[in-house]
Amino acid sequence: MFRYFQTLLNAGQVINSWTSKPTVARFLTTVNQMDKPKVLVTREDIPKSALSILEEKCELEVMPNKSPISRTDLLNKISGKHGIFCFLTDKIDKEVLDQAGSQLKVIGTMSVGYDHLDLNEIKKRNITVGYTPGVLTAPTAELTVALTLATTRRLFEAHDEIANGGWAKCSWGPLWMCGSGLVGAKVGIVGLGSIGLAVAKRLLPFEVAKIMYCGRHEKPEAAAQVLGEYVTFDQLLQESDVVIIMCPLNDTTRNMFGPTQFALMKPNAVLINTSRGGVVDQDALVNALKTGQIAAAGLDVMTPEPLPADHELTKLKNCVLIPHIGSATLQTRTTMATMTAQNIVNALEGRPMPAQLC
Ligand code: DGY
Repeated sequence: MFRYFQTLLNAGQVINSWTSKPTVARFLTTVNQMDKPKVLVTREDIPKSALSILEEKCELEVMPNKSPISRTDLLNKISGKHGIFCFLTDKIDKEVLDQAGSQLKVIGTMSVGYDHLDLNEIKKRNITVGYTPGVLTAPTAELTVALTLATTRRLFEAHDEIANGGWAKCSWGPLWMCGSGLVGAKVGIVGLGSIGLAVAKRLLPFEVAKIMYCGRHEKPEAAAQVLGEYVTFDQLLQESDVVIIMCPLNDTTRNMFGPTQFALMKPNAVLINTSRGGVVDQDALVNALKTGQIAAAGLDVMTPEPLPADHELTKLKNCVLIPHIGSATLQTRTTMATMTAQNIVNALEGRPMPAQLC
């Protein structure tokens, strides 16, 4: 008799525990996730609004790190996923794609640049790619102008003079901390795409003398908006007081600034790069800055990233360095993140993406 009651009691407890609220919630979540596509987010520090878009439609695996995913984790975690939310720090190449498996349908990169993606391998597998053009044009152009001013007017060096006692020593000097101005300057833009054009528009009110541009194609309509003159790369290098790199990194643009190009530039020229570090042969740049072949450089991008703190560039007074922050406004990064999430969800649901690269 006792045993009989004991058995009933145990059974009751089991049923009770099955139907407790957390268990039911867990059960429903599992059922809910069963048919959802699996998506890997390679780091956790993305705006919540983007996560919510993904969570509603996908089974998410968010890497619990606030730094780029390690190569080993990327290779392990991508296996079996239908989509990946990635960043310019994540190299998606043949090895990663092979590891992912044939169910991988979409790559959403939270960037406008895509030199970290092996597009040939991706296309072979019919995987779609979403990216974030347009939304970071204005902030990146703004930052490029800020970096141009900081470099031509030596703002960081001047700031250091206060902290290192330089100002106290010289008090003020007629030629102390003199840089170059933008009034009357000839500006050469390498790549008059949407960001290049936005930079040119923002520089015109500084009363620059002339805007030149070069690139694979002449762009008469864009150029007309800034009275831009289409010139050869060599002519741009020879004539410009400020050279601004605005082209993407690819096989044609890699190391396009080397010893020969620096030799063509004017000794007062200032080089600005907010595109990709790989466009510049960095050793040649260090040499050009050290020998006075060019006056100064302002770099938001370099090779490698992060640049080691003791790299030679960090020791040069005529080099202004900032850590790849072209699009770094909260609004922009939030829009980029939600756009990436929507790109992924739409691709998985077979709908057009807000911004499809291929
Ligand atoms: C990009 O999106 O490619 C920028 O370099 C970072 O926002």
